[in-house]
Amino acid sequence: MTITTGRVAIVTGGAIGLGAAIARFLARDGADIAIWDRNIEPAEAVASEIRAMGRRVLVSQVDVSQRASVEAAAQAVRAQLGPVSILVNNAGVSPEKDFVEITEEDWDRVMDINLKGTFFCTQAVIPDMIDARWGRVINISSSSAQTGARRMVHYAATKGGVIAFTKALAQELGALGITVNNVPPSFVYTDGLKSVENRFPDGLAGYAKQNIPVNRVGQPEDIANAVAFLASEASGYITGHTLSVNGGRYMS
Ligand SMILES: NC(=O)c1ccc[n+]([C@@H]2O[C@H](COP(=O)([O-])OP(=O)(O)OC[C@H]3O[C@@H](n4cnc5c(N)ncnc54)[C@H](O)[C@@H]3O)[C@@H](O)[C@H]2O)c1
Repeated sequence: MTITTGRVAIVTGGAIGLGAAIARFLARDGADIAIWDRNIEPAEAVASEIRAMGRRVLVSQVDVSQRASVEAAAQAVRAQLGPVSILVNNAGVSPEKDFVEITEEDWDRVMDINLKGTFFCTQAVIPDMIDARWGRVINISSSSAQTGARRMVHYAATKGGVIAFTKALAQELGALGITVNNVPPSFVYTDGLKSVENRFPDGLAGYAKQNIPVNRVGQPEDIANAVAFLASEASGYITGHTLSVNGGRYMS
């Protein structure tokens, strides 16, 4: 997929996991990249790889749940790379707790990062896309919002919000050349899934055999490929869409 060379893409949570793969794929396809993450060290490592591809790259330490932090980073991207035309809202936390144990603080924290962070980041850069009459917003949601997920009521609620946010904003901005879509991952082999691998009695391979039609868990590159397509020139007639990249685990 091609992205017009020189378009500027922000990937939140781009230091590790899905975000790092997404940043690499967008750079491969022609975009200059801003990585926004709380965690700077691994973000710099991804940035070095991207620089070696010949793209411009900017790493900013950002907490997406803090409006001032997001606004300052957006200004830095404009000043150093230019107006933003692609935003991937990927930063997120995935806490687990029995529903009766979830505190107000737990609820607020996951809402602030996953849902309010998506609002802050999008609102900070959408004026650039409106000016250009071209833009791509891609939100990383979760299959938990499609299937439900025990012990993740607060998390699934944020991701359901992200899907509704996607559809509503797509309605509002479609006529301005801006598309807004979401990708709900499911069982992608990142640090999070690695840390709970021992919960699966037959291993992840056994789980995949029984529950995932394509017979394997996802890899970050599976998600990055879908995001790269939604960020490309080729996807301009797709908006408000939920592109489920899950090996067939949930079919909508
Ligand atoms: N891995 C999966 O199987 C899976 C499944 C469903 C949904 N997702 C979603 O995909 C996204 C990425 O998941 P991942 O597995 O790569 O996660 P991860 O934990 O490996 O990486 C998340 C990144 O986001 C950053 N981050 C967290 N809070 C932040 C904040 N407040 N401000 C800025 N950066 C912040 C972290 O520092 C980290 O670099 C998340 O939104 C997650 O909910 C992942």
